[in-house]
Amino acid sequence: MSLVDELLRAPKTRLHIGGEWTEGESEMDVLDPATEQVLASVSTAGRVQAAAAVDAAWGAAPEWAAAPPRKRSEILRRAFEIMLEREERLAELIVLENGKAWPDALGEVRYGAEFFRWFSEEAVRITGEIRTAPGGDKRIVVLPEPVGVSLMVTPWNFPAAMATRKMAPALAAGCTVILKPASDTPLSALAVADILMEAGLPPGAVNVVTARGSSGVVDDILDDPRVRKLSFTGSTEVGRLLMAKAGSRIMRTSMELGGNAPFVVFDDADLEAAVEGAMVAKMRCGGETCVAANRFYVQAGVAEAFTSRLGEAMSSLRMGSGLDRSTEVGPMINARAIEKIESLVEGAVDDDATVVTGGNAPSGPGYFYEPTVLSDVSPDAVILGHEIFGPVAPVVPFETEEEVIAAANDTEHGLISYVYTGDFVRGIRVAEAIESGMVALNRGLVSDAAAPFGGVKQSGVGREGSHHGMDEYLELKYLAW
Ligand code: SIN
Repeated sequence: MSLVDELLRAPKTRLHIGGEWTEGESEMDVLDPATEQVLASVSTAGRVQAAAAVDAAWGAAPEWAAAPPRKRSEILRRAFEIMLEREERLAELIVLENGKAWPDALGEVRYGAEFFRWFSEEAVRITGEIRTAPGGDKRIVVLPEPVGVSLMVTPWNFPAAMATRKMAPALAAGCTVILKPASDTPLSALAVADILMEAGLPPGAVNVVTARGSSGVVDDILDDPRVRKLSFTGSTEVGRLLMAKAGSRIMRTSMELGGNAPFVVFDDADLEAAVEGAMVAKMRCGGETCVAANRFYVQAGVAEAFTSRLGEAMSSLRMGSGLDRSTEVGPMINARAIEKIESLVEGAVDDDATVVTGGNAPSGPGYFYEPTVLSDVSPDAVILGHEIFGPVAPVVPFETEEEVIAAANDTEHGLISYVYTGDFVRGIRVAEAIESGMVALNRGLVSDAAAPFGGVKQSGVGREGSHHGMDEYLELKYLAW
């Protein structure tokens, strides 16, 4: 049996609690979005399993918090190595349950593994402080301590990398973890937990509870006073609900929520580079990322040329199942995703946008949507106010820098913005004026384990990755001496 076959069958499709594969209360089917066929049947947790996961994480917490940083570091380093040794098989699993094209799936495994490597290096660099109080009468000693049991709720669009991006800093800081992966894509998270156990993580330090939806089990876990931290990646809508629940318990939260990224092209930009960057910013993982370029603002002098080149690039993409390694665009995650994209494109066309290429969902099987470019999109079209989460690029021409900054900021979101210009000073000026947690200047990709990923406004709170990512899992104890 191949490793992928093994990962699609019990016990590796059971809950992972206290270092054991554990039966749940019920089962749910996981589908392959390219074929709509059932891939695997996965256990779902109920109240009893939620409590067992908290018991296990709580029980493991003192030993893990007291483990020497070097030991925590070496386990994470080993997890990085195992993940890379298995990269092809993990990528295949991601293709099967998420539908990503092969290069995106392999890219996700490598990106996900980087969080283990990066935080293995951070585990041994946790620093405190010692200061003399201004009055000279005492020392102010600041001791970082692990926050404690942390609940992580992860999305389907990066089923492995969002799990490692959250678990790696938590484990490096000495926290124990309960992970609730998205119900569309639970298999990769279970495979990552398996890797951590093989790397030497003590039982109970990571627990995975698979379940339908993000209420029920999540509510039960949030209600348990032993749980001290919630980290969520997903929509702003769900994030608001979870944050309210966590708020009522005065729980630490990190929220990585929706985006509505503007992609701004000035007429002094290198157009070829801008189109190349647009293809990455729009089409990485078929547009199903929270950092996907969502609105293309192109200065009037180059709008036509940019749109036609983008249309050519989009129409030449090869669509199909990611198991065919030459595929460049896979299916969307499910039928609901297709319905949403269809309704946004239809709305834009009703508002007089022109379809340059694409604009259709081919008949199944599989949840496919053609790479699409829309031109002449009205500046107040509904599509510009919604996270498309699919392979659709609406292009809006603009005249002045002031106008485009106002348009870029005219959203409740503030995750990332892309700016293409040949004038470096203008690039910095616009980057500073745009309200977002991240700005890509003449680049189509920013994601990096060594950089602080996160948003402002309704796109979230907290940062993941970089040394700042550790702060999310550390409390500061002040010792007056
Ligand atoms: C996301 O879409 O939630 C994460 C994207 C990334 O890390 O690049």
